Amino acid sequence: MIARGGTPGVACGPAKPGAADLDFEAFLADLRVVPVVEVSRVDDAVPLARALIDGGLPCAEITFRTAAAAQSIAAIAGAVPEICVGAGTVLNVAQAEAALAAGARFIVAPGFDPAVVDFARQRGVPIVPGVCTATEVGMALARGLALVKLFPAEAAGGVGYLKALAAPFGGVRFVPTGGIGPDNLAAYLAVEQVVACGGSWMVKKDLVAAGAFDTIRELAAQAREIACAARPAVVAGPQAARR
Ligand code: 3PG
Repeated sequence: MIARGGTPGVACGPAKPGAADLDFEAFLADLRVVPVVEVSRVDDAVPLARALIDGGLPCAEITFRTAAAAQSIAAIAGAVPEICVGAGTVLNVAQAEAALAAGARFIVAPGFDPAVVDFARQRGVPIVPGVCTATEVGMALARGLALVKLFPAEAAGGVGYLKALAAPFGGVRFVPTGGIGPDNLAAYLAVEQVVACGGSWMVKKDLVAAGAFDTIRELAAQAREIACAARPAVVAGPQAARR
C-alpha cells in the first residue's frame, strides 16, 4: 500500500501553481517533482490532471510524443486551471506554437534548439531546454537561460555526472530527468543545484491508458512525500521560500 499525504513534521503543503505571472522556477522548487506524461487519448487528460492535483503535484508536462498532446493541454487548461500545464518533448517551433496556442504555461525540450528557445523567450513563456554537456550548458547561458533540464540524467551518469557538470557553472540550476524514480529521487534533490526532478514513473502511459487514476494519485502522493522528506525546506528560488 502506498502512503498518501505529507510526512508529519515536514513543512510541505501542496505546491500552488499560482497566477498567470507565475514565478516558474519558484513554483518548480516548491513542487520538487515534475510529472512527465504521454497522453494518447484526449479524454484521459482531465482525469489525469485531477489525479495529479489530488496527489499533491499540480503540474503536468504533456509530451509531444503523441498526436493528442496539444488537445490534451487545451483540455486541461480549459477544465483544470488550478494545475500548471506545460508541453514537453518540444522538438521544433511549430510544436512550441501549438503548445502555446493550446494553453501551455511552460515548454520543456529534450535538447537545446536555439530556435525553440528564442521563440519561447520572445513569447515570454518559461522554457527549460535539455542539456547533457558543458558546451550545451554554455549555449543556454549565452542566451541568458540559467535553468536547464539534464537529460537523460541517469543514462548520462546520474548524480555523480550532474555534480561534475554543474560544478563549473555557479549560477546554473538543473531539472534532471530521465531514469529517475522513487529509489533515486532523494539523491538528486540532495544536489544543491537541482530545483526539481522530472519523471514519468507516477504517470506511466500504461497507467494513463488504463484509466488507473487512483494509482496515479497514489504514486504522485508517494513522489511528493519522498521529495518533501528529501528537501523539507525550499533552497532554490527567492520567492519559493515565502510560505
Ligand atoms: C522525458 O520525456 O523527459 C523523459 O522521457 C522522462 O524520463 P523518464 O520516463 O525516464 O522519467
